[in-house]
Amino acid sequence: MSDLPVSIDETIAALAAQNYVCGRDLGTVAYLSLRLGKPLFLEGEAGVGKTEIAKAISAMLGRRLIRLQCFEGLDASSAIYEWNFSAQMIAIRTAEAAGGADRAKLQQELFSEDFLIRRPLLEAMEPHPEGPPVLLIDEVDRTDEPFEAFLLEALSDFQVTIPELGPIRAAEPPIVILTSNRTREVHDALKRRCLYHWVDYPSFAREMEILRARVPEATETLSEEVVAFVQGLRGQDLFKTPGVAEAIDWARCLIALDTVSLSPEVISDTLGGLLKYQDDITRIAGAEASRLLDEAKQRLAPA
Ligand SMILES: Nc1ncnc2c1ncn2[C@@H]1O[C@H](COP(=O)(O)OP(=O)(O)O)[C@@H](O)[C@H]1O
Ligand SMILES: [Mg+2]
Repeated sequence: MSDLPVSIDETIAALAAQNYVCGRDLGTVAYLSLRLGKPLFLEGEAGVGKTEIAKAISAMLGRRLIRLQCFEGLDASSAIYEWNFSAQMIAIRTAEAAGGADRAKLQQELFSEDFLIRRPLLEAMEPHPEGPPVLLIDEVDRTDEPFEAFLLEALSDFQVTIPELGPIRAAEPPIVILTSNRTREVHDALKRRCLYHWVDYPSFAREMEILRARVPEATETLSEEVVAFVQGLRGQDLFKTPGVAEAIDWARCLIALDTVSLSPEVISDTLGGLLKYQDDITRIAGAEASRLLDEAKQRLAPA
């Protein structure tokens, strides 16, 4: 079984080995969360690396990643398990066709493990040979309060109950990471169970590191221009501010077009890699893009 990192530095280094660039602040809560076995609650704008750190942690520890993607209307039962209704129907038909089925026995068989579809929470509670998995409860702000209350319970005793089979309890609790894009406030009670961290947009230096890790084919000059421009764009009043994910995508678009250095024309042509709303694109394309590019180049110019 893989060992957990023994220090903040080791955590940051292990994440870096997975191409995840992690500052000391996030490295500290990540380390503590692993060390204390407490869920990690990450909140922040879209595309700042919340989901990615769960992937990086599972890869660095060699543990399975189990993802519960939250959405409106997600209910407890589909997060834990479901009965395979169509397989049950076939079993009933087969038993009927064979004639004289033993009803009690059939019923017992129908609600056995054979017909159980495991959903993420159940999977996360079951034993895994490589050690407890990483359970990513992604975009928890998309669910509703009853589901949060249910999560709170599931996370407090790491136990789920299937009426027909009884309680299933994790011998070793999973490593839990929750994320929220903060489209609404998540209840205090749930946050109180967790270590909390606000994942902010990275600084210039950190975003450069991320680009070096994720788009190594970009030249240093192009990356600097991309980061400076994107960071300037984040200061604008946009409907949807570009995240790190967009900076990476955009750099890749520019490379695909053999761009050596940014120009107003190439920016206007490729804005769709960066901005995903037509209103934002019309606001920025043209004169505004030129102005932001001038500003970005000024910031990059040696003093
Ligand atoms: N700190 C980081 N180090 C490396 N890559 C990052 C980092 N932050 C973001 N990324 C990149 O941005 C992409 C989007 O991040 P993601 O975790 O999906 O954002 P979020 O879940 O916060 O919306 C990732 O696939 C990854 O390529
Ligand atoms: Mg995400």
